[in-house]
Amino acid sequence: MIMSTSRGGASGDLGRHAHVFQPGRSGRTLLLLHGTGGDEHDLLRLGAMLDAGASLLSPRGNVSEAGMARFFRRVREGVFDEADVRARSAELGAWVRAALAHYAIDPAGVTSVGFSNGANVAAAMMLLGAYAAPRAVLLRAMVPIAPAPGASAAGARVLVLAGTSDPIVPAEHSVRLADLLRGVGAEVTLREVPGGHGLTRDDVEIAREWMGVNDERAD
Ligand code: MLT
Repeated sequence: MIMSTSRGGASGDLGRHAHVFQPGRSGRTLLLLHGTGGDEHDLLRLGAMLDAGASLLSPRGNVSEAGMARFFRRVREGVFDEADVRARSAELGAWVRAALAHYAIDPAGVTSVGFSNGANVAAAMMLLGAYAAPRAVLLRAMVPIAPAPGASAAGARVLVLAGTSDPIVPAEHSVRLADLLRGVGAEVTLREVPGGHGLTRDDVEIAREWMGVNDERAD
């Protein structure tokens, strides 16, 4: 069963993002955050590949860049509008909490899975103290913002997956991001996969292994 809610069809915080909620059977939930130009349907297949038994919660970014949806504004490729990163991260964090309550999702069972701009907003929420899931898989993430004083993602486990020849994310960004996330208390694993900005089979396999999902138990 897929339940979709359009922006106009839900009230309060929840109505701020068009989204899909697809209930699963395992008690686990993947918060799926798409890349630039994607939407709430983009990562559903990836979510099912990563954890077939999990519920999927997938919001669409509210920023439009020439018609392409994003989670925050940028000045140009790799240069972000910091005020907007702060505001959108706070807003998305509030939205996630509202969605967890609305759909009766166990917060302890959530894994954030973000790709590119979606990974960047997941990282920004952690660095700013807006929202940290207990686990996060950040695929092709950059440093989105400096950590806010006092922000804590203590106890969160984070997997950063970087492409060795990513033309958008310089290698030192992945290393710096891992360090910044450690600085706010997260336990971070940084892995490189052969490839560019696009996702590969290796990403899926490494993420599945790191998540430790036992599909037989889940299904
Ligand atoms: C971003 O803008 O978040 C990054 O440059 C990745 C992208 O979306 O292209």
